[in-house]
Amino acid sequence: MANLPILEIPNPILRKRAKRVRSIDKKMLRIAYDMVDTLNAAGGIGLAANQIGQLWRIIVLQMPEEESSRIYFNPEIIKTEGTREVEEGCLSIPNYRGLVTRSVSIKFQGKDYSDNIVTFKAENLLSQAVEHEVDHLNGILYTDHLVAHSELYRVEEPDISHTNEDSSNNNDYLNSSSTIELK
Ligand code: NI
Repeated sequence: MANLPILEIPNPILRKRAKRVRSIDKKMLRIAYDMVDTLNAAGGIGLAANQIGQLWRIIVLQMPEEESSRIYFNPEIIKTEGTREVEEGCLSIPNYRGLVTRSVSIKFQGKDYSDNIVTFKAENLLSQAVEHEVDHLNGILYTDHLVAHSELYRVEEPDISHTNEDSSNNNDYLNSSSTIELK
């Protein structure tokens, strides 16, 4: 397992559509577990395979209140309800946050690491995270959903986690206290 570099804009892989996973085999599981390691090292809530340069339909989520990471293959949003405005960030767009339109709730279907079909209805942060990560698999970034062009803002990195690191330090702000950080 490995903590891998996370691709950032304007890397073209972030704008590509990921392929369906045909068989949840060792190769796919390896990618998923690497994604979990990468996500947890970044202290984030979600990561899509595109972000580590793998164009497969895999997402991982680490909800703040949950002990284990969720791994989903071929995730699909099969129904959405309502709209709301929420603030969002993404590890592939470091140091920015924006106000975006998301669904109030979603119905989700995907497969877990044991090849079992998983379905659930989600709202709040889980719904937002799933929409954000499934978007990644379709080459869509949260900046495509901005409420208005003016609703994208640069955020300062927290003082505490930054002393004199090199230029690879730009993901650390996502370790700050907010629980709505998405990757
Ligand atoms: Ni993201």
